[in-house]
Amino acid sequence: MPYTSFDRDIKIAPSILAADFANFGAECAAVEREGADWVHIDVMDGHFVPNITFGPAMVKALRPHVRTVMDVHLMIANPDQYIAAFADAGSDIITVHVEACTHLDRTLSAIRELGCKAGVALNPHTPESTLDYVMDSLDLICVMTVNPGFGGQSFLHSQIEKVARLREKIGDRAIHIEIDGGVTPSTAPLVAAAGADVLVAGSAVFGGGSATDTGPYGQNITKIRDAAVAAAS
Ligand code: DX5
Ligand code: ZN
Repeated sequence: MPYTSFDRDIKIAPSILAADFANFGAECAAVEREGADWVHIDVMDGHFVPNITFGPAMVKALRPHVRTVMDVHLMIANPDQYIAAFADAGSDIITVHVEACTHLDRTLSAIRELGCKAGVALNPHTPESTLDYVMDSLDLICVMTVNPGFGGQSFLHSQIEKVARLREKIGDRAIHIEIDGGVTPSTAPLVAAAGADVLVAGSAVFGGGSATDTGPYGQNITKIRDAAVAAAS
């Protein structure tokens, strides 16, 4: 089901950056069948990050294959120029990087006006205080636990403290804390205990399986979820 209502239950969001690029439709259906709560889509432009992935046309083509929440992470410069296209493509959540937004408050309002949930991602070096004056304009904060651009990097433990501080700052507001990068059954409990509820995982979900052998996806998702739920605060 697309995004309906807010809760803080642990959610696993496989990143299709680690999927078979020739089979995205089947891969999205496979991870959902195997227990994914959301599907995370990493858009990279070769400017804001050194890697290039795909654009709004691809996201639109994927929409019929995604039955859960389509969580679109824009690692792009000038996101204002593209948010309407990504909303039109059927995104449920559009996340922009604070480092790429000159007028963040305006960008977040624009995302909401287009009918999507508004997310902000923080690079590892960016302090959480940068969000102090937009806390009522956003629905999700994505804490990057790697430097964005590539899958398969090691989790940065320095970010756990940021998650805990954000959890405190959020209070009762309906704002998700999403973790992106290096999430595994070993690191998931650390961020769940600090207050995160959405765990993006690429390599740790798709590793060992394929679009035609999806069982490992299910086992991987279960391992991450169980470890996180046991630690969740
Ligand atoms: C990193 C991306 C992540 C990435 C996570 O730039 O935003 O979503 O795919 O990959 P893993 O889980 O392999 O670190
Ligand atoms: Zn991402």
